[in-house]
Amino acid sequence: MPNNSVVLRVPVLGIIGCGRMAEAMLSRLLVDGLLPEQVWVSARSPQRQQYLAETYGVKVTTNQEVATAEILLLAVKPQAFADIEVELADAEVARRAGIVVSIMAGIYSGRLRQLFPQRLIFRAMPNTPAQVGAGVIALASDSAAGELEIEKIKSLLGVLGRVVAVSEGQMDAVTALSGSGPAFIALIVEALCDAGVAVGLSRSLTQELVYGTIAGTVQLLNERALHPAQLKDAVTSPAGTTIAGLEVLEAAGVRGTLMQTVKAAYERAQALN
Ligand SMILES: NC(=O)c1ccc[n+]([C@@H]2O[C@H](COP(=O)([O-])OP(=O)(O)OC[C@H]3O[C@@H](n4cnc5c(N)ncnc54)[C@H](OP(=O)(O)O)[C@@H]3O)[C@@H](O)[C@H]2O)c1
Repeated sequence: MPNNSVVLRVPVLGIIGCGRMAEAMLSRLLVDGLLPEQVWVSARSPQRQQYLAETYGVKVTTNQEVATAEILLLAVKPQAFADIEVELADAEVARRAGIVVSIMAGIYSGRLRQLFPQRLIFRAMPNTPAQVGAGVIALASDSAAGELEIEKIKSLLGVLGRVVAVSEGQMDAVTALSGSGPAFIALIVEALCDAGVAVGLSRSLTQELVYGTIAGTVQLLNERALHPAQLKDAVTSPAGTTIAGLEVLEAAGVRGTLMQTVKAAYERAQALN
């Protein structure tokens, strides 16, 4: 991001709906060198507005003013977007050139383009670990965007985690897998922790073991480029403990259950559009 210290008439970054996800991004961008005076943001409640101004020193203003930004991030809940559409419908700013990045689930670029006909439209789908910079962010770029603009948006979203290029048509599947994924994983983590307690370990020790096992398994798969089945086979000795546990997982149909889980989330994402 540019790093000049003059007070700008048009902000580099505008955020409509500076809630949890946008704040995660804002706080990291400011640490990365973006200046508070380069950012204008909006929120609905006076308490939130005051908090943002006091915590980050950014200008908190109307959606119409925020929409003048070179890069406009749309981060309200999808249900709140209809109000923004009404508010910006006749605003000249909406017709300016620039870039719009929407992280709103289920709002297609076609609808965004009606409101911002002159701007490049990017859709991004972060997930909850983005709040600590460990997210996976699926990015569908505008087909008219050049390499420079794509790189600019990738580096903007990169503060939230790993940016992965997708097509807009893949967004519902992404929502089901990496968007909803943290909840599925959290449920499995919780169940494993309960299992540790059930076999006599303390809650805190169990938690340390489970978190470490999951993080370490993913790291091993990544660093050695292993297929999951190779790793599973490597720790499964004849008549051993692991195969005894795996038999239970297979009898319970865990693989099929996880596939059905993601398919159900995918169908729900499609129904919400
Ligand atoms: N959280 C996630 O893990 C996640 C993952 C993927 C995608 N997303 C997407 O990210 C977006 C934001 O999610 P979030 O979790 O950050 O939600 P959030 O914390 O509720 O943030 C939404 C923000 O929008 C503000 N707002 C509401 N109506 C407004 C209006 N008319 N004008 C200006 N600001 C308005 C709210 O202000 P107040 O605080 O004053 O009410 C709030 O600060 C959603 O569209 C969601 O689909 C989130």
